[in-house]
Amino acid sequence: MNEKRRESIVDASRPSAGRVYDYLLGGHHNFEVDRRVAERIKEILPFMPKAFMLQRWCLQDVAMEVTRRGLDVIIDFASGLPTQDHIHTVVPAGTIVIYSDYDPVVVGYARDILGDMQNVYYFEADARQPEELLNRPEVQDILGGRRDVALVMWGVSAFLSDDELAHAAQVLYEWSGPRSCLAFNAQAADVDEDNPIRHKIHALYEQMGTPLHNRSLERARLLLQPWRLGPEGFTSLFDWHGIDTSVMTEMERKVFGTGGAGYGAYFVK
Ligand SMILES: C[S@@+](CC[C@H](N)C(=O)[O-])C[C@H]1O[C@@H](n2cnc3c(N)ncnc32)[C@H](O)[C@@H]1O
Repeated sequence: MNEKRRESIVDASRPSAGRVYDYLLGGHHNFEVDRRVAERIKEILPFMPKAFMLQRWCLQDVAMEVTRRGLDVIIDFASGLPTQDHIHTVVPAGTIVIYSDYDPVVVGYARDILGDMQNVYYFEADARQPEELLNRPEVQDILGGRRDVALVMWGVSAFLSDDELAHAAQVLYEWSGPRSCLAFNAQAADVDEDNPIRHKIHALYEQMGTPLHNRSLERARLLLQPWRLGPEGFTSLFDWHGIDTSVMTEMERKVFGTGGAGYGAYFVK
């Protein structure tokens, strides 16, 4: 990992996107410096905490759906904190959940939260190089040769450049078995280039050392090839889980809704 990026995520005197996210979700695993950025984000976009919650609810839907599809191993990249609303809390008993995140502080907190829970694991790993997680001897032991798995990239694609996303998709495709699927969340699709809110949010993430990458849904689809977009196509998270949008301002609907951020899709082989 880029040394500068590593320094910024370990350093508790500098904000980290993962801990900011935790604060906006109502969590307690964050520092003063994270809370200050989170409050600034809330000033710019008061709907942001609700949007993050929606992202989590949709992730729960993903977890239940992939197990309905018969997959009993879920490998999740850039997991954030495994609090009470995360994947392992909604899957049938016996499902193996492998979480990962590249922020060592998040990983430390995550292991405290999970304790010695059965079938749930948490590793430090970079979603830009999924091969590192997949090739870990501990992970290979857990999998026991299984390759038909659900792969999840939720709430992270905007942190990856086009090249990084394409590389990750290629590695996951080559590694995984024919029945595998990739649940993918496109966070920053098609937000209007001139939208002033977009510029302010981008500037904040840039300052944290984790710049955001916007791309259209079509661009995301192309970068994920040879994965094939499932028959449901990309679905706005508003429709994926359902949410009362009447509480949102017009600008918030634009930023988060159709034509804005927040889409999900299942990719298959
Ligand atoms: C917005 S949270 C998403 C958490 C969870 N996936 C969800 O959707 O609820 C983003 C997480 O991605 C992590 N992250 C960002 N870039 C990453 C990377 N390249 N590799 C692994 N984790 C990353 C951050 O540390 C943070 O915990």
